[in-house]
Amino acid sequence: MSGLPPPAAGLRGALGSLSARLLLAFLLPTLALFGLTGAAGYTLARSILEEELGQSLSAIAAATASQVSGERMLTIEPGDDVQGTRTWRNLTRLLGEMQQASGVRRVFLVDVQGRVRADVGGGLPVGAEAPELARDRLELTRVFSGERAASQVLFTGSDGLLYKTGYAPVRQADTVVGAVAVEGSAAFFGPLARLSRTFTVATGVALAVLAAVAVLTARGLARPLRRLMDSALRIGRGDLTTPVPPEPTQEIGVLARELEVMRGALESRDRQLKLMLAGVAHEVRNPLGGIELFSGLLAEDLKAGSTTDATEHVARIQQEVAYLQRIVEDFLAFAREQPLARAPIEAPVLVAGACELLAAEAQAKGVKVEVDAAPAQLEADGSLLTAALVNLVKNAVQASPAGERITVTGRAEAERYTIQVRDAGPGIPEAERERIFEPFFTTREKGTGLGLPLARKIVRAHGGELAFTSTPGSTTFTLTLPSR
Ligand SMILES: Nc1ncnc2c1ncn2[C@@H]1O[C@H](COP(=O)(O)OP(=O)(O)O)[C@@H](O)[C@H]1O
Ligand SMILES: [Mg+2]
Repeated sequence: MSGLPPPAAGLRGALGSLSARLLLAFLLPTLALFGLTGAAGYTLARSILEEELGQSLSAIAAATASQVSGERMLTIEPGDDVQGTRTWRNLTRLLGEMQQASGVRRVFLVDVQGRVRADVGGGLPVGAEAPELARDRLELTRVFSGERAASQVLFTGSDGLLYKTGYAPVRQADTVVGAVAVEGSAAFFGPLARLSRTFTVATGVALAVLAAVAVLTARGLARPLRRLMDSALRIGRGDLTTPVPPEPTQEIGVLARELEVMRGALESRDRQLKLMLAGVAHEVRNPLGGIELFSGLLAEDLKAGSTTDATEHVARIQQEVAYLQRIVEDFLAFAREQPLARAPIEAPVLVAGACELLAAEAQAKGVKVEVDAAPAQLEADGSLLTAALVNLVKNAVQASPAGERITVTGRAEAERYTIQVRDAGPGIPEAERERIFEPFFTTREKGTGLGLPLARKIVRAHGGELAFTSTPGSTTFTLTLPSR
């Protein structure tokens, strides 16, 4: 009993990990797929939108720069904004109009030293250094050499929103004397963030649904497996009578069917074994009783000094011992699992050889054995097949009244060889026909009841079959063997 819990716990553990594995198998790829596509989509959309923003900001900067005169810009000096000089006001108005028209946050003008000349929306005084330019030093170098540019990185404004700056050069004649900077907010970030949130929620929902599916699938798999496990454990405990219920799932159904076949086989072996044990005990008891009886008589004979009686009783004891020996030998032959030693053998030789072994017994009884076997080569275990045939012919001899004949014929057919043993004895009564192949079933006083079951076992081991027909006055045992 103490051996039982571990396998049960082991199986249950395996089932537990079945759901865990399914869960993993379902969720990991989904998570990877959603995560990767989500991240990639987000990054792509963001970089496209950022690029777009940079380009429109630098376009606005270029449009503004085209209207700014570099010469006038350079005339603006620190303090102009406080005084509100004309040039400064004109420029500031121009920037203000641009800011209004394009809806950007800030438009400002800087000279090549990075000092502010006018600032709308940023509030820096003229002459101040714009600290944000330090961030875009690289872009500014390009702008001062005459190109348009936009900052590579987004920066967080004082309002917490993300911004980007577009630049365009301001020229005097052909030289760049400053730059227009346009700051615009990355307004697309709101929708993008919402999109990413939606995507995350969708991923979560998909994962939850898949987890549910995985758990249900695992349960669906585990339940029939557990039933199967219970059946296996029951069989293991020795309960061979409760059938294994069929399972609807295909593969598990096959397993259940196989288990049921195994259980059936075990049950029938078990039944046969019990039957045989009972049979052996029963069979052995008879000769033992005889030996007990005759040895008792022998003791009395010896006391009385009667030698003739003593000799007769010793002979009876020897008879019983011989019978006991036959029972043991037959039983061993029947019970032994022998591998077939197949070899080519001529069918007529086999048939004649078996009949030869019984010639003396037949003659003693006044019975004639006629053999007529068609030539054929068999691939068989000669000594085992001979034993099977001997049992059939012996039964026929024992059943035949004196003066009758037994015919043993061999016929070669398409794919088989058929041997028939026919006698003219009284036949097998209807009531006994079912039972003659049972081990230990016998109607003869000194029979073992193992001849026919042994013969059938040998024939079946060869892939053949043993059958019979019987009417009073004619009994035929037919042994069919497959031949190449
Ligand atoms: N040719 C036959 N004619 C009539 N009865 C037979 C014949 N062969 C077998 N039987 C019956 O089948 C029984 C079982 O035979 P078998 O298995 O050879 O055991 P045993 O010969 O030791 O009795 C016999 O006891 C007999 O009743
Ligand atoms: Mg027999």
